[in-house]
Amino acid sequence: MRRLFPEPADDIGVDQAYAAPLGTGAQRPWVGLCMVASIDGSIAVGGTSGQLSSPTDIAVLGQLRRIADVIVVGAGTVREEGYGPPTTPGQRIGVVTGSGRLDYDSELFGSGGAFVITAESSDFDAPAHVDVLRAGRDRLDPAEMVRRLPEMVERCVFVQAEGGAALNGAMFDADLIDEVNLTTSPAVFGGDGPRLTSGAPSITRRFDVAQVAVDDESFVYTRWLRRRG
Ligand SMILES: NC(=O)c1ccc[n+]([C@@H]2O[C@H](COP(=O)([O-])OP(=O)(O)OC[C@H]3O[C@@H](n4cnc5c(N)ncnc54)[C@H](OP(=O)(O)O)[C@@H]3O)[C@@H](O)[C@H]2O)c1
Repeated sequence: MRRLFPEPADDIGVDQAYAAPLGTGAQRPWVGLCMVASIDGSIAVGGTSGQLSSPTDIAVLGQLRRIADVIVVGAGTVREEGYGPPTTPGQRIGVVTGSGRLDYDSELFGSGGAFVITAESSDFDAPAHVDVLRAGRDRLDPAEMVRRLPEMVERCVFVQAEGGAALNGAMFDADLIDEVNLTTSPAVFGGDGPRLTSGAPSITRRFDVAQVAVDDESFVYTRWLRRRG
Protein backbone atom coordinates (compact mmCIF):
# COMPACT_ATOMS: atom_id res chain seq x y z
CA MET A 1 0.00 0.00 0.00
CA ARG A 2 1.02 3.63 -0.46
CA ARG A 3 0.82 5.72 2.68
CA LEU A 4 -0.20 9.34 2.21
CA PHE A 5 -0.36 10.36 5.87
CA PRO A 6 1.28 10.82 8.35
CA GLU A 7 4.68 10.07 6.77
CA PRO A 8 4.27 9.38 3.05
CA ALA A 9 5.74 6.02 1.99
CA ASP A 10 5.49 4.65 -1.55
CA ASP A 11 5.50 1.01 -0.56
CA ILE A 12 4.66 0.12 3.00
CA GLY A 13 3.67 -3.33 4.23
CA VAL A 14 0.36 -3.91 5.95
CA ASP A 15 2.26 -5.34 8.92
CA GLN A 16 4.14 -2.05 9.25
CA ALA A 17 1.12 0.21 8.69
CA TYR A 18 -0.86 -1.72 11.29
CA ALA A 19 1.99 -2.83 13.54
CA ALA A 20 0.32 -1.78 16.79
CA PRO A 21 -2.86 -0.26 18.17
CA LEU A 22 -2.91 3.55 18.16
CA GLY A 23 -2.82 3.66 21.97
CA THR A 24 -3.27 1.79 25.20
CA GLY A 25 -6.08 1.92 27.72
CA ALA A 26 -5.62 2.98 31.33
CA GLN A 27 -8.57 1.43 33.20
CA ARG A 28 -9.60 -1.04 30.52
CA PRO A 29 -8.25 -2.66 27.34
CA TRP A 30 -7.89 -0.47 24.25
CA VAL A 31 -10.65 -1.15 21.70
CA GLY A 32 -10.24 -0.88 17.94
CA LEU A 33 -13.06 -1.37 15.45
CA CYS A 34 -12.13 -2.95 12.12
CA MET A 35 -14.62 -2.54 9.26
CA VAL A 36 -14.92 -2.21 5.48
CA ALA A 37 -17.59 -0.02 3.85
CA SER A 38 -18.52 1.08 0.35
CA ILE A 39 -18.34 4.69 -0.87
CA ASP A 40 -22.06 4.93 -0.14
CA GLY A 41 -21.54 3.66 3.38
CA SER A 42 -22.84 0.11 3.15
CA ILE A 43 -21.13 -2.58 5.24
CA ALA A 44 -22.86 -5.53 3.58
CA VAL A 45 -23.80 -6.45 0.03
CA GLY A 46 -26.13 -9.42 -0.31
CA GLY A 47 -25.87 -10.06 3.42
CA THR A 48 -22.09 -10.23 3.82
CA SER A 49 -19.00 -8.03 3.52
CA GLY A 50 -17.28 -10.30 0.97
CA GLN A 51 -17.95 -8.12 -2.11
CA LEU A 52 -16.62 -5.05 -0.31
CA SER A 53 -13.26 -6.54 0.51
CA SER A 54 -9.93 -7.05 -1.29
CA PRO A 55 -6.78 -9.10 -0.67
CA THR A 56 -5.14 -6.08 0.99
CA ASP A 57 -8.20 -5.47 3.14
CA ILE A 58 -8.11 -9.11 4.20
CA ALA A 59 -4.43 -8.65 5.04
CA VAL A 60 -5.33 -5.63 7.21
CA LEU A 61 -7.94 -7.68 9.05
CA GLY A 62 -5.41 -10.50 9.46
CA GLN A 63 -2.69 -8.21 10.79
CA LEU A 64 -5.03 -6.55 13.30
CA ARG A 65 -6.19 -9.99 14.40
CA ARG A 66 -2.58 -11.00 14.95
CA ILE A 67 -2.08 -8.20 17.48
CA ALA A 68 -5.47 -8.55 19.20
CA ASP A 69 -5.83 -10.39 22.50
CA VAL A 70 -9.61 -10.67 22.22
CA ILE A 71 -11.94 -10.31 19.24
CA VAL A 72 -15.49 -9.23 20.01
CA VAL A 73 -18.20 -9.78 17.42
CA GLY A 74 -22.00 -9.73 17.29
CA ALA A 75 -23.99 -12.92 16.89
CA GLY A 76 -25.56 -11.58 13.69
CA THR A 77 -22.15 -11.32 12.05
CA VAL A 78 -21.15 -14.80 13.20
CA ARG A 79 -24.41 -16.21 11.78
CA GLU A 80 -24.01 -14.34 8.46
CA GLU A 81 -20.28 -14.51 7.84
CA GLY A 82 -19.31 -17.78 9.51
CA TYR A 83 -16.43 -17.47 11.94
CA GLY A 84 -13.55 -19.89 12.48
CA PRO A 85 -11.52 -20.34 15.67
CA PRO A 86 -8.86 -17.80 16.63
CA THR A 87 -5.56 -18.25 14.83
CA THR A 88 -3.34 -16.27 17.20
CA PRO A 89 -2.09 -18.29 20.20
CA GLY A 90 -3.85 -17.33 23.43
CA GLN A 91 -6.42 -15.19 21.64
CA ARG A 92 -10.15 -15.69 22.20
CA ILE A 93 -13.29 -14.60 20.37
CA GLY A 94 -16.25 -13.28 22.37
CA VAL A 95 -19.61 -13.54 20.62
CA VAL A 96 -22.24 -11.09 21.86
CA THR A 97 -25.77 -12.47 21.92
CA GLY A 98 -29.07 -11.92 23.67
CA SER A 99 -30.82 -14.99 22.34
CA GLY A 100 -27.99 -17.52 22.59
CA ARG A 101 -28.91 -18.65 19.08
CA LEU A 102 -25.49 -19.83 17.93
CA ASP A 103 -24.06 -23.00 16.43
CA TYR A 104 -22.24 -24.44 19.43
CA ASP A 105 -21.15 -27.48 17.37
CA SER A 106 -19.19 -25.26 15.01
CA GLU A 107 -15.41 -25.27 14.85
CA LEU A 108 -15.49 -21.80 16.41
CA PHE A 109 -16.98 -23.05 19.67
CA GLY A 110 -15.53 -26.56 19.47
CA SER A 111 -12.03 -25.05 19.57
CA GLY A 112 -12.58 -23.65 23.07
CA GLY A 113 -11.28 -20.37 21.71
CA ALA A 114 -14.69 -18.74 21.61
CA PHE A 115 -16.98 -17.70 24.42
CA VAL A 116 -20.39 -16.12 24.71
CA ILE A 117 -21.09 -12.63 26.07
CA THR A 118 -24.57 -11.82 27.32
CA ALA A 119 -26.58 -10.13 30.09
CA GLU A 120 -27.25 -11.75 33.46
CA SER A 121 -30.96 -11.95 32.66
CA SER A 122 -30.51 -13.95 29.43
CA ASP A 123 -32.29 -17.24 29.92
CA PHE A 124 -30.58 -19.52 27.41
CA ASP A 125 -28.15 -22.22 28.48
CA ALA A 126 -24.87 -22.50 26.64
CA PRO A 127 -23.42 -26.02 26.58
CA ALA A 128 -20.84 -26.92 29.22
CA HIS A 129 -17.88 -26.59 26.84
CA VAL A 130 -18.68 -22.91 26.15
CA ASP A 131 -17.63 -20.20 28.62
CA VAL A 132 -20.10 -17.39 29.25
CA LEU A 133 -19.24 -13.84 30.29
CA ARG A 134 -22.25 -12.10 31.79
CA ALA A 135 -22.10 -8.30 31.83
CA GLY A 136 -25.08 -6.15 32.76
CA ARG A 137 -28.27 -7.17 34.52
CA ASP A 138 -31.30 -6.80 32.28
CA ARG A 139 -29.36 -6.02 29.16
CA LEU A 140 -25.77 -6.22 28.08
CA ASP A 141 -23.58 -3.51 29.56
CA PRO A 142 -20.84 -3.00 26.94
CA ALA A 143 -18.59 -1.03 29.34
CA GLU A 144 -18.70 -3.83 31.93
CA MET A 145 -18.08 -6.32 29.12
CA VAL A 146 -14.87 -4.56 28.04
CA ARG A 147 -13.69 -4.10 31.64
CA ARG A 148 -14.14 -7.80 32.31
CA LEU A 149 -12.67 -9.21 29.09
CA PRO A 150 -9.28 -9.66 30.86
CA GLU A 151 -10.98 -12.42 32.92
CA MET A 152 -11.25 -14.51 29.75
CA VAL A 153 -7.60 -14.45 28.61
CA GLU A 154 -4.15 -14.35 30.15
CA ARG A 155 -3.25 -11.00 28.62
CA CYS A 156 -5.74 -8.41 27.43
CA VAL A 157 -4.30 -5.16 26.12
CA PHE A 158 -5.95 -4.81 22.72
CA VAL A 159 -9.51 -5.80 21.85
CA GLN A 160 -10.56 -5.87 18.23
CA ALA A 161 -14.27 -5.24 17.61
CA GLU A 162 -15.43 -6.67 14.29
CA GLY A 163 -19.05 -5.50 14.07
CA GLY A 164 -21.67 -5.78 12.98
CA ALA A 165 -23.84 -2.72 12.92
CA ALA A 166 -25.88 -3.43 16.07
CA LEU A 167 -22.88 -4.20 18.27
CA ASN A 168 -21.06 -1.17 16.84
CA GLY A 169 -24.03 1.02 17.76
CA ALA A 170 -23.91 -0.17 21.37
CA MET A 171 -20.13 0.23 21.54
CA PHE A 172 -20.15 3.77 20.13
CA ASP A 173 -23.08 4.68 22.37
CA ALA A 174 -21.03 3.60 25.40
CA ASP A 175 -18.02 5.45 23.92
CA LEU A 176 -15.83 2.36 23.99
CA ILE A 177 -14.28 2.61 20.53
CA ASP A 178 -10.79 4.09 20.83
CA GLU A 179 -9.78 3.68 17.20
CA VAL A 180 -11.47 2.84 13.92
CA ASN A 181 -9.64 0.96 11.19
CA LEU A 182 -11.83 1.56 8.19
CA THR A 183 -11.33 0.38 4.64
CA THR A 184 -13.31 2.24 2.00
CA SER A 185 -14.20 -0.02 -0.90
CA PRO A 186 -14.10 1.86 -4.24
CA ALA A 187 -17.70 1.22 -5.28
CA VAL A 188 -21.25 2.40 -4.76
CA PHE A 189 -23.62 -0.51 -4.21
CA GLY A 190 -26.93 1.21 -3.51
CA GLY A 191 -29.55 -0.99 -1.92
CA ASP A 192 -30.43 -0.89 1.74
CA GLY A 193 -27.39 -2.58 3.23
CA PRO A 194 -26.59 -1.74 6.85
CA ARG A 195 -24.17 1.07 7.62
CA LEU A 196 -21.44 1.10 10.25
CA THR A 197 -23.81 1.54 13.19
CA SER A 198 -27.42 0.78 13.89
CA GLY A 199 -29.59 1.16 16.93
CA ALA A 200 -27.50 3.85 18.63
CA PRO A 201 -29.23 7.02 19.77
CA SER A 202 -28.10 10.25 18.13
CA ILE A 203 -24.49 10.67 19.26
CA THR A 204 -21.36 12.57 18.24
CA ARG A 205 -18.02 10.88 18.64
CA ARG A 206 -15.16 12.86 17.10
CA PHE A 207 -12.08 11.14 15.72
CA ASP A 208 -8.75 12.42 14.40
CA VAL A 209 -7.22 10.89 11.32
CA ALA A 210 -4.12 8.90 12.23
CA GLN A 211 -3.22 7.26 8.90
CA VAL A 212 -4.35 7.25 5.28
CA ALA A 213 -3.13 4.73 2.71
CA VAL A 214 -4.27 3.58 -0.74
CA ASP A 215 -3.59 0.57 -2.92
CA ASP A 216 -3.46 0.03 -6.70
CA GLU A 217 -7.14 -1.00 -6.74
CA SER A 218 -8.29 2.36 -5.28
CA PHE A 219 -9.16 0.96 -1.87
CA VAL A 220 -8.53 3.55 0.86
CA TYR A 221 -7.27 2.45 4.26
CA THR A 222 -7.84 4.87 7.12
CA ARG A 223 -7.04 4.75 10.82
CA TRP A 224 -9.00 7.05 13.13
CA LEU A 225 -8.18 7.88 16.76
CA ARG A 226 -10.93 8.88 19.19
CA ARG A 227 -10.50 12.50 20.26
CA ARG A 228 -10.80 12.52 24.06
CA GLY A 229 -11.33 15.62 26.19
N1 LIG B 1 -18.27 -4.63 6.38
C1 LIG B 1 -17.82 -5.09 7.53
O1 LIG B 1 -16.67 -4.83 7.90
C2 LIG B 1 -18.72 -5.93 8.39
C3 LIG B 1 -18.27 -6.39 9.63
C4 LIG B 1 -19.14 -7.13 10.43
C5 LIG B 1 -20.42 -7.40 9.98
N2 LIG B 1 -20.83 -6.92 8.78
C6 LIG B 1 -22.18 -7.19 8.31
O2 LIG B 1 -23.11 -6.71 9.26
C7 LIG B 1 -24.30 -7.52 9.17
C8 LIG B 1 -24.70 -7.95 10.57
O3 LIG B 1 -25.17 -6.81 11.23
P1 LIG B 1 -25.98 -6.91 12.57
O4 LIG B 1 -26.48 -5.56 12.90
O5 LIG B 1 -26.88 -8.08 12.53
O6 LIG B 1 -24.81 -7.15 13.51
P2 LIG B 1 -24.32 -7.84 14.81
O7 LIG B 1 -24.12 -6.74 15.75
O8 LIG B 1 -23.18 -8.68 14.40
O9 LIG B 1 -25.44 -8.84 15.33
C9 LIG B 1 -26.59 -8.45 15.97
C10 LIG B 1 -26.87 -9.49 17.00
O10 LIG B 1 -25.78 -9.55 17.92
C11 LIG B 1 -26.26 -9.57 19.25
N3 LIG B 1 -26.03 -8.27 19.80
C12 LIG B 1 -25.42 -7.20 19.23
N4 LIG B 1 -25.37 -6.17 20.08
C13 LIG B 1 -25.95 -6.58 21.21
C14 LIG B 1 -26.21 -5.97 22.47
N5 LIG B 1 -25.85 -4.70 22.71
N6 LIG B 1 -26.84 -6.69 23.42
C15 LIG B 1 -27.19 -7.97 23.18
N7 LIG B 1 -26.99 -8.60 22.00
C16 LIG B 1 -26.37 -7.91 21.04
C17 LIG B 1 -27.74 -9.91 19.12
O11 LIG B 1 -27.73 -11.32 18.99
P3 LIG B 1 -28.99 -12.30 19.14
O12 LIG B 1 -29.82 -12.07 17.93
O13 LIG B 1 -28.37 -13.66 19.17
O14 LIG B 1 -29.66 -11.93 20.43
C18 LIG B 1 -28.09 -9.20 17.83
O15 LIG B 1 -29.26 -9.67 17.22
C19 LIG B 1 -23.98 -8.71 8.31
O16 LIG B 1 -24.56 -8.48 7.04
C20 LIG B 1 -22.47 -8.67 8.19
O17 LIG B 1 -22.04 -9.16 6.98
C21 LIG B 1 -20.00 -6.21 7.97
